[in-house]
Amino acid sequence: MKTTKPALGPPRARKKWAMFEDLEKIHTKPGVFEVYTAQSLWAEAHRAQQMLQFHLDGQIDVSSRNHVFLDRSSAWITKQFDLGPGKTVCDFGCGPGLYTARLAASGARVSGIDFSHSSITYARAQAAKAGLPISYHEGNYLEFIPQQRFDLITMIMCDYCALSPEQRQKLLGIWRDCLGDDGAILLDVYSMAAFARREETSFCEKNQLGHFWYAEDYYAFVNSFKYESEAVMLDKYSLFPARGKPETVYNWLQYFSLESLSAELAQAGLQIDQSFRDVAGQPFSPEHDEFAVIIKKLA
Ligand SMILES: C[S@@+](CC[C@H](N)C(=O)[O-])C[C@H]1O[C@@H](n2cnc3c(N)ncnc32)[C@H](O)[C@@H]1O
Repeated sequence: MKTTKPALGPPRARKKWAMFEDLEKIHTKPGVFEVYTAQSLWAEAHRAQQMLQFHLDGQIDVSSRNHVFLDRSSAWITKQFDLGPGKTVCDFGCGPGLYTARLAASGARVSGIDFSHSSITYARAQAAKAGLPISYHEGNYLEFIPQQRFDLITMIMCDYCALSPEQRQKLLGIWRDCLGDDGAILLDVYSMAAFARREETSFCEKNQLGHFWYAEDYYAFVNSFKYESEAVMLDKYSLFPARGKPETVYNWLQYFSLESLSAELAQAGLQIDQSFRDVAGQPFSPEHDEFAVIIKKLA
């Protein structure tokens, strides 16, 4: 019987389907901290509005923590750092000012910096309404040149973990330079216990997170990659809107032990003074997903 050969050429000469190439890109693990897209996640106009709704929903721990925790945490910070008139505070990544407003109620002079226009606009309006003289700066905190020294610097809800080692050193340098000699930095980070619980996953969902990414319809491929030796996770979002241009958003997360955090602080002339389970002053527990530290200048 006569057989007909398939019309396709030898395997090496065949062109890959565009969709196969897209799927390859979607599932490719990039080099650790290769791309920084925090601006697309937080400051793009549509997403910044979505984030603002999450911040202001007092019941959930998304973008900001729930507001019962925020009240407890702010009260602890005010007491722990003896905040009041004459004290200066700067909150890096302040969002819509949920901490800055609570800390300013003590009488301390508070500043906040964030690159989300929606959040800073909301924060300014709230401060004006409450008559609180909070100074807000809209911009990238990695480029921030403070004009004064602070008694307390805060970065809350693990935003420090989204930065590469180089970006973290840059930020630590900014903090060291504007920290008063007896000043302190309050920071929370993800723990190694949380890292051990994370796994690589991959899924695709239409309009993932309820139209968080775009107002129009889209497909989102979500690939989580684990970098064991660096203790880093990447949540990579490959986004395909119905009409807009496809884009990829990278959300990096560095996980820390007390030792690894101490080592990088030492490089910047800083040290851990005290450690806690959270930014509300609960006792430190290595099993918890996060931990908080008070940092001071190296003696
Ligand atoms: C997880 S939220 C925490 C908000 C606030 N600290 C709280 O607990 O309510 C992180 C915030 O950092 C801001 N952010 C992230 N990267 C930034 C950057 N490079 N420069 C300025 N703001 C940034 C985001 O816009 C967002 O408001």
